[in-house]
Amino acid sequence: MTVYQATASAPVNIACIKYWGKRDTKLILPTNSSLSVTLDQDHLRSTTTSRADPSFTHDRLWLNGKEEEIKEGGRLWTCIREMKRLRKEEVEDKSSSEPKLSTYNVHICSHNNFPTAAGLASSASGFAALVSSLSHLYSLPVSSSTLSLIARQGSGSACRSLFGGFVAWQMGSNPSGSDSLALQIAPQSHWPDIHALICIVSDDKKGTSSTSGMQRTVETSSLLHHRIKTVVPHRMETISKAIQEKDFDTFAKVTMADSNQFHAVALDTEPPIFYLNDVSRAIIALVVEYNRLGVEEGKGYRAAYTYDAGPNAVIYAKKENVKEILELVVEYFPQREGAFKDAFGLFGGGGKVV
Ligand code: PMV
Repeated sequence: MTVYQATASAPVNIACIKYWGKRDTKLILPTNSSLSVTLDQDHLRSTTTSRADPSFTHDRLWLNGKEEEIKEGGRLWTCIREMKRLRKEEVEDKSSSEPKLSTYNVHICSHNNFPTAAGLASSASGFAALVSSLSHLYSLPVSSSTLSLIARQGSGSACRSLFGGFVAWQMGSNPSGSDSLALQIAPQSHWPDIHALICIVSDDKKGTSSTSGMQRTVETSSLLHHRIKTVVPHRMETISKAIQEKDFDTFAKVTMADSNQFHAVALDTEPPIFYLNDVSRAIIALVVEYNRLGVEEGKGYRAAYTYDAGPNAVIYAKKENVKEILELVVEYFPQREGAFKDAFGLFGGGGKVV
């Protein structure tokens, strides 16, 4: 008996230019393009196994051992349906000898090797791994960008986790969403010197989900309109060029400015959304001072903080400075040393948990 089963894994990505706002909530089409770095190490990954079998009575999915409901019309349902459609169109309609896997139900098991609720983009790696595993199961002859169109409908930022390295999600203009996809700007090997230091400030579940936060921001923030029209298009160009030229100063300035503006837009929402806490703000002050000293010493910027929809910091830095930054953070937050030590990781070329 042939077993139809495939396993794939995908890492988390952390945006330098933030996606915040949907112009189409069903298709998950963003109000602006975004750009991220995929954290290419064994930590912070989702691994997903999919199996198709004619004896299965319905599609089922388990996340970290607990069964999740696949609601009709929901995001999981949409991704599975779209992958079955691709199997039918790309494989079965073109060869009558291929088994009709698109007609079988699937059982899917997914596992995150990091706390799901820690505000570390688990939905990005989760939906990317789901789409990848179904793509292997169905032997789909399609590109990662095509798969990103489907992962995007699970969780917007998931489309960027289908690529390693530096990845842009082009917002696109087509109402069908056919051009709202991810593209690799540069592989990790282009600039292996960049590391990400993850600082878990709190592993509480975030107060306002990205879905409801974005909706409220789109409806009420006037700053958002300035951001998406004027600021982001320019920043996308500047940071893409900085990545091509391995210009850390510009990369760091744009990354921090965009994190700041994303949180400003959250504050400009009615009622306001606060994702940062006092520790997050103290880490910002530390990075600002560290960069000020770097400039004074003629070394330029040496670190870039960025925060998603929660208080945890990600600090991008060149490999040569990571040890010093880690020591500084632990020195300035001694009361949190245990939490930081357990939670900190170095990611990027050759990184390891310290
Ligand atoms: O893909 P979502 O719905 O989890 O939204 C992600 C939003 C941010 O993490 C704040 C920004 C981003 O571009 O990843």
